[in-house]
Amino acid sequence: MQAKIAVLAGDGIGPDVNAEAIKVLDAVASQFGHDFEYREGLVGGVSIDAHGVALTDETFELAKECDALLLGAIGGPKWDDPRSTVRPEQGLLALRKRLGLFANLRPVQIFPGLASVSTIREQVLENVDLVVVRELTGGLYFGQPSERYEADGRRSAVDTMAYDETEVARVVRVACELSRKRRHKVTSVDKANVLSTSRLWREVANEIAADYPDVEFEDMLVDSAAMRLIRDPSYFDVIVTENTFGDIITDEASMLAGSMGMLPSASLGDGKYGMYEPIHGSAPRRAGQNLANPIAMILSAAMLLQLTLGLEREARAVEHAVVKVVSGGHRTYDIMGEGCQQVGTREMGDLIASAVEAGDFATG
Ligand code: IPM
Ligand code: MG
Repeated sequence: MQAKIAVLAGDGIGPDVNAEAIKVLDAVASQFGHDFEYREGLVGGVSIDAHGVALTDETFELAKECDALLLGAIGGPKWDDPRSTVRPEQGLLALRKRLGLFANLRPVQIFPGLASVSTIREQVLENVDLVVVRELTGGLYFGQPSERYEADGRRSAVDTMAYDETEVARVVRVACELSRKRRHKVTSVDKANVLSTSRLWREVANEIAADYPDVEFEDMLVDSAAMRLIRDPSYFDVIVTENTFGDIITDEASMLAGSMGMLPSASLGDGKYGMYEPIHGSAPRRAGQNLANPIAMILSAAMLLQLTLGLEREARAVEHAVVKVVSGGHRTYDIMGEGCQQVGTREMGDLIASAVEAGDFATG
């Protein structure tokens, strides 16, 4: 298969981890006989430095013309001035919005050998296997007005949380469909006891769920869901929630997996196109030091293989390679365990790429 993949490495450790994902994709290409072409562009802080904006039309067109987009990470202290009108994150948000990527899938699983790395007790982590479907193009991130102003001589600011029924319906559908390939259970997370948008969300979500009689559907308040994620995480199968709640609870959920460096994500719209990125940030202090854990980025590339290109076997091969390397005791600093060997970003990428090429699971 031939595929064109846009590569926007971004800031901080973005380029570090991105390079390892490409290494692994190249291993997949040679092992399975595919031809992946990469197109590189700038987004985030590096784009601000070069062009004065976080996303140029040129980069947007480049991303759109490809079959999928691999994105590293965005942001850093250099561009953090709260008074600045140009911010790296605008590039990421514009990509999500303009590419119509409304459903963000964030799977959480505990890799063999990593339960002991988590700050959560091992017995709580048994059988944890969940996916958060985060609404990605609505809510507080995009509602207008969103601005700072003076009122009665006081510094004031406003953000707006807004949803319409179409935005809710389509993402809840994605969650229900996804649950059919899993344990047929969807938990819709909202704050319906306080927010109007959440009451609309709950009403529409239940209407959509009625089309899926085989799926066990429930509503849960976000505060209670946040507590349950830590108390009893194996309770969940698919969680669907609005943009800001999804942002917060996926950072929380990543701690089940031991490190932010383990969690991939896929952002999807109506077609096969997808943007694939780790959920972690740009970790500026670790940039360029061969330290960062590239696994979240590599697993994001596996999601690209599966969800955009339909290459199931190849995606499994990458996942198995990660399991093999991690359970074999090779670890980056963030997932180090007793008796394990610490490796850097590049070594981790090499090990996973070699495991793919060793191919002992390639025909499975
Ligand atoms: C994420 C990140 C982004 C978000 C930031 C970088 C804008 O935290 O993808 O979870 O808030 O969506
Ligand atoms: Mg986040």
